[in-house]
Amino acid sequence: MTTPTIPILIFGSSGFCGRGVLKRLSSNPTFSISAHIRPSSGSLNTMQTLATEYSFDLQVAPVTEIATLIEQTQPQIICSFIGTTKRKMRALRLTYDDIDYGINHQIIEQAKHLPNPPLFVYVSSMGIEWHKWSTYLKARYKVEEELRHSHLPYVILRPGILTGPTREEARPLESVGATISDGFAQLCRSVGWNSQANKISSLNATDIGNIVSLQIATWLDQNKPLNFRTTLDVQHIQESIQSSEARMSP
Ligand SMILES: NC(=O)c1ccc[n+]([C@@H]2O[C@H](COP(=O)([O-])OP(=O)(O)OC[C@H]3O[C@@H](n4cnc5c(N)ncnc54)[C@H](OP(=O)(O)O)[C@@H]3O)[C@@H](O)[C@H]2O)c1
Repeated sequence: MTTPTIPILIFGSSGFCGRGVLKRLSSNPTFSISAHIRPSSGSLNTMQTLATEYSFDLQVAPVTEIATLIEQTQPQIICSFIGTTKRKMRALRLTYDDIDYGINHQIIEQAKHLPNPPLFVYVSSMGIEWHKWSTYLKARYKVEEELRHSHLPYVILRPGILTGPTREEARPLESVGATISDGFAQLCRSVGWNSQANKISSLNATDIGNIVSLQIATWLDQNKPLNFRTTLDVQHIQESIQSSEARMSP
C-alpha cells in the first residue's frame, strides 16, 4: 500500500469544481487531501458522506481559521474554487470583493508564509481582460495579480461556462448559455474546426478534475519548480485534456 506523502488543501471543496477535483485527486494514493468547508455550508452533510466515500479529511472551520488550517496542514498544493453568486452574496450583504477576492487574498497571504511555497491552483474566469467593467471579473483579476506578484508557483484556469449533471443548484442562464455554445461547438467540430470548438465549449466537473490533476502531475514530475506559472484559457484546457486522453487510449 502506498503511504500518502503529498499534502493537498482544497478550499471551495463543496462546490461544482471542488467536488470534481476531490473525486479525481482522491484516486491518487500519494495524495493526502484535506478539504475545507465552512460550518454554515448547505453541503455539510453531503461533504461528510463524500469524505468517507473518497477518503479525504474534511476540515469544518470558519474562514477566520484559514490561516491556522494552512499552518497546520503545511500543504504542498493548495486549490481554491471559492466564489459566490450575486443572489447568495446579496443575502449576506457581502460583495465579490469580500468573498471572491477577500477569502482568496487571505489564502494567498498565508500560503506565502509557508517555508516550502505550495503550488496554488486557482479557478478564475474567461474574459478577465474586461475586469474594468465587471466587479465579478475585477475580483478574479485581483486574485490573479496577487499570484503573479507572489513567489508562489501557480496554475490559473480561466473557464467559460462550467456546467454539467453534478451542478446541484439551478442556474438557468448558465444552462441556456451552455446549450447554445456547446451546440455551436458541435457544429464547428462537424466541419473539422476543432480549435474554434475548443474555445467555446463548456467544461464539466470531470474536465476541471482532469486538468487540475494533469497540471499537478506536471509540476510534480518537474520536481516542483518555483517558476511554474501557468495560465490556461478554455481552449488550452480542452486541448490539454484531449491530448492526455489521446495518449491514454490504446
Ligand atoms: N459557473 C460558471 O460557469 C463559472 C465560469 C467561470 C468561472 N467560474 C468561477 O469558478 C469558481 C468555481 O466555480 P464553481 O462553479 O465550482 O462554484 P460553486 O459551485 O458556486 O462553489 C463555490 C464554492 O465557494 C464556497 N463559498 C462560497 N461563498 C463562501 C463563503 N462566504 N465562505 C466560504 N466559502 C464560500 C462554496 O462553499 P459553500 O458550500 O459553503 O457555499 C463552494 O464550495 C468560482 O469562483 C466561479 O465564479 C464559474
